Amino acid sequence: MTSPRKIAAPGRKPLVIGNWKMHGDVAFIESLLAGLRKGWRQRALTQAVDVGVCPPSPYIGLAAARLAGSALSWGAQNISAHERGAYTGEVAGSMLADLACTWSLIGHSERRALFGETDAQVAAKVEQALASGVTPVICVGETLQERESGQTEDVLGRQIDAVCANLQDASGHYVLAYEPVWAIGTGLTASPAQAQAAHRFVRNRLLAGGVFSASDARILYGGSVKPGNAAELFSQPDVDGGLIGGASLVADDFLAICRAAAGVA
Ligand code: 13P
Repeated sequence: MTSPRKIAAPGRKPLVIGNWKMHGDVAFIESLLAGLRKGWRQRALTQAVDVGVCPPSPYIGLAAARLAGSALSWGAQNISAHERGAYTGEVAGSMLADLACTWSLIGHSERRALFGETDAQVAAKVEQALASGVTPVICVGETLQERESGQTEDVLGRQIDAVCANLQDASGHYVLAYEPVWAIGTGLTASPAQAQAAHRFVRNRLLAGGVFSASDARILYGGSVKPGNAAELFSQPDVDGGLIGGASLVADDFLAICRAAAGVA
């Protein structure tokens, strides 16, 4: 095991990221971005919370153009495991960096379940993101069946162990997102206590894997976060913000969740 190093981590400032998934068109996205910019008036909020949005890839450039100069950041929902070359349909980390993407989601449960993304591919994508200067937002989480059969920690442990080697030298420039699959788009949320237990487990597992910056790493909760339940979830000691699906498509709801993360009513 490597010995602990001094690292310059971004710290655990609350972070909220909107995952727009495969929704929207130019007109919808123009209006959502305008709503976010308009609602983003309070300077205090900017100091208290970092906020990003991840549009579908054809619209990342549009988000970059509209959000440039604002306090809002943008990113991608996926990144290629390859650096460059003949990989039809893939988007390289360097391309995301070229569009000034701050974030790339990696290993979202929809990609793992619907597109067969493996732990090894997730690790390769994390490596590409870090090499490109794009912050990986690594998603982990268990299915309902896994939770009910007592396998939550096994599943989270396996998913975390797969990326520890990549994160050992990442100087804290990475984000984890705990997204219980059973809470995504279902209206069910993990209770604050369930979320806290999973987040604590994730942090400890990273530390055990030699990722000594994990004490300062941001771990987001995702899964049916709404304005009405955000504050309680975010009040848990190891919950550093949220990864928001459905509610991120409604500017007022997303902004209300950002205010909850900032601790502003
Ligand atoms: P919902 O907020 O719609 O449940 O989606 C969560 C999610 O998958 C974010 O990545």
